Amino acid sequence: MAEGLKRKISAASARAHTRKSDQSSTFKLSRGIFKKILAVLFVGILAWIYQVIRPPLPKICGSPNGPPVTAPRIRLKDGRYLAYKEYGVPREVAKYKIIYVHAFKSSRHNVVVATTLSPDVIEELGIYIVSFDRPGYGESDPNPIRTVKSMAMDIEELADQLKLGSKFYVIGYSMGGMAIWSCLKYIPQRLAGVALLAPAVTYWWSNVPANVSNEAFNQKSTQDRWVIRVSHYAPWLVYWWNTQKLFPASSVLAGSSDTLSSQDMEIISRISSRKDSASEQVTQQGEFESLHRDLIVLHGAWEFDPLGLENPFPNHEGFVHLWHGDRDKIVPITINRYIAEQLPWIHYHEISGAGHFFPLGDGMSNAIVKALLTGEK
Ligand SMILES: *[C@@H]1O[C@H](CO)[C@@H](O)[C@H](O)[C@H]1NC(C)=O
Repeated sequence: MAEGLKRKISAASARAHTRKSDQSSTFKLSRGIFKKILAVLFVGILAWIYQVIRPPLPKICGSPNGPPVTAPRIRLKDGRYLAYKEYGVPREVAKYKIIYVHAFKSSRHNVVVATTLSPDVIEELGIYIVSFDRPGYGESDPNPIRTVKSMAMDIEELADQLKLGSKFYVIGYSMGGMAIWSCLKYIPQRLAGVALLAPAVTYWWSNVPANVSNEAFNQKSTQDRWVIRVSHYAPWLVYWWNTQKLFPASSVLAGSSDTLSSQDMEIISRISSRKDSASEQVTQQGEFESLHRDLIVLHGAWEFDPLGLENPFPNHEGFVHLWHGDRDKIVPITINRYIAEQLPWIHYHEISGAGHFFPLGDGMSNAIVKALLTGEK
């Protein structure tokens, strides 16, 4: 009897025990599945974000599925091709050889100083101009490790392969200004003269006082300030930021007229009537290695800033000119005006009433080129 009771009790407790452990293992199992589902979801979301923010590979010019090569190109030491276009008198007979560096969202075809330069000035002075597609634009290979410095190196190689001689002139417009500051820093001994036309600025140049940078930054629209911040602080997000539809991205890329001064509007309406077919070539290899890379490099880390530069012509053997319109809404004048005040060797031309497109205005090309080559004002 006592034996039977004991057995019953232990049987009951054993059953209870089994039930309990059954329950907890079911619980453990479902918690395990839940964790796995969470992990899969997490990885899935990360993969999705990665897909969305990752720029597509560029469509390289001359590759099987890429656009065709139509321009003459040089091959750089690192294997990249650089496409170029020549203007003016043949380089063999030219007295003055100029390398032109194009702006944002343009190409070797958009040589603001060549388009309106008078044929008389070209012949009289013997001017040769070569313009090239900056890396990733038009028919030049992208340079995924492009820096401010690499642009001067590209220019020097272009000059040497085209046999432009020991010295040559450089002109850079807007975003092309980065390459010109770079030439002043890294290859000053190769320069015969320099013209910066409304050169692009960034707001993190260490020698520019914060109040000057801030004043310039605050002249940009809210949406452009965000593009600039993203380019500086989160360059890995630049592709997404400029292609997403949630927030307004760059007003320059969107072609918004908010960034145009009245003179700019007038110039644009005059030139857009003769819109060239070459504009389709500008970003034919993809927007990332052309437009977005420009933003990343401009607002990224500079190894120097313009205020730290030295006069490349201490014996007045050449000129450095900086031209800027005081109504420029694309590149606010404040920082460039400050740089020109601090560096007395810069010949500064502040053009009253002019916007960002002043080089296309009547007679401007002639004035810019003559000042560069002959010092004539
Ligand atoms: C910046 O501050 C200095 C004084 O610290 C002043 O002289 C200068 O005018 C200011 N510049 C601007 C653009 O506000």
